[in-house]
Amino acid sequence: TPKGSCLESVKIAIDAGYRHIDGAFVYYNEHEVGQAIREKIAEGRIKREDIFYCGKLWNTCHPPELVRPTLEKTLKILQLDYVDLYIIELPMAFKPGDAIYPKDENGKIIYHETDLCATWEAMEACKDAGLAKSIGVSNFNRRQLEMILNKPGLKYKPVSNQVECHPYFTQPKLLEFCRQHDIVIVGYSPLGTSRDETWVNVSSPPLLKDPVLNAIGKKYNKTAAQVALRFSIQRGVVVIPKSFNPQRIRENFQIFDFSLTEKEMKEIEALNKNVRYVELLM
Ligand code: A2P
Repeated sequence: TPKGSCLESVKIAIDAGYRHIDGAFVYYNEHEVGQAIREKIAEGRIKREDIFYCGKLWNTCHPPELVRPTLEKTLKILQLDYVDLYIIELPMAFKPGDAIYPKDENGKIIYHETDLCATWEAMEACKDAGLAKSIGVSNFNRRQLEMILNKPGLKYKPVSNQVECHPYFTQPKLLEFCRQHDIVIVGYSPLGTSRDETWVNVSSPPLLKDPVLNAIGKKYNKTAAQVALRFSIQRGVVVIPKSFNPQRIRENFQIFDFSLTEKEMKEIEALNKNVRYVELLM
């Protein structure tokens, strides 16, 4: 994103009422997010405890001895004392080092032998040290979640699993499994992504053009985006819509003044194509 646009967007979002901010070191804008939060605190608009900031441990930082220093680096960039949630961004590790996507001479990603359970123990230590209030995971499937949940001597369960989730990819099985284990699903790409071909499977049709979402929206005088977001929160999925447009940032927050009927929820659930936009081919 252009320099400064993240700072502006986060400030607009906080003014609009947003409190949960989903960030990551690899988004390269944590300094702007931190600045926005600090400016809003200085203005007296919010207190630090009103904000819920989620940071992420990148793939090159899975070795246990790297976990805490990596979180400390994020805190330094944010200029905050703690994150509310720190999550393992992906269940696969890359070779540690400066390259975010370390590659060999053939352009292939260099993976790194890793033990997710050991990484998790280092995450637990971050919580104990007060650097993260809660810890969780992202892009974990059931088998990977079970590995953590069944770890001998587990101190803290993951509180959340951030995965792709929206009307075209509703995750019914994972959602049920996570419900049974008190793990909150945080749904990324809740609007069907920005359709950036460098990382999105655009052969799946645009979510917001869906006739059912648009027809239901018409009934409530809402947009397809608002219906998609309402659908997710109404089934207990946390949403993290992304927008750098002030009007759409505000629009995406106007979802608490209507509710979908059971029949509409079923209709939207039936849109599930079981196809991901974000394939994470690496
Ligand atoms: P923009 O930043 O121009 O608003 P997701 O949250 O699923 O990743 O989707 C993000 C994409 O959806 C961005 O391209 C964003 O563009 C767009 N977007 C965000 N809010 C809306 C909205 N209310 N209506 C239409 N498009 C939206």
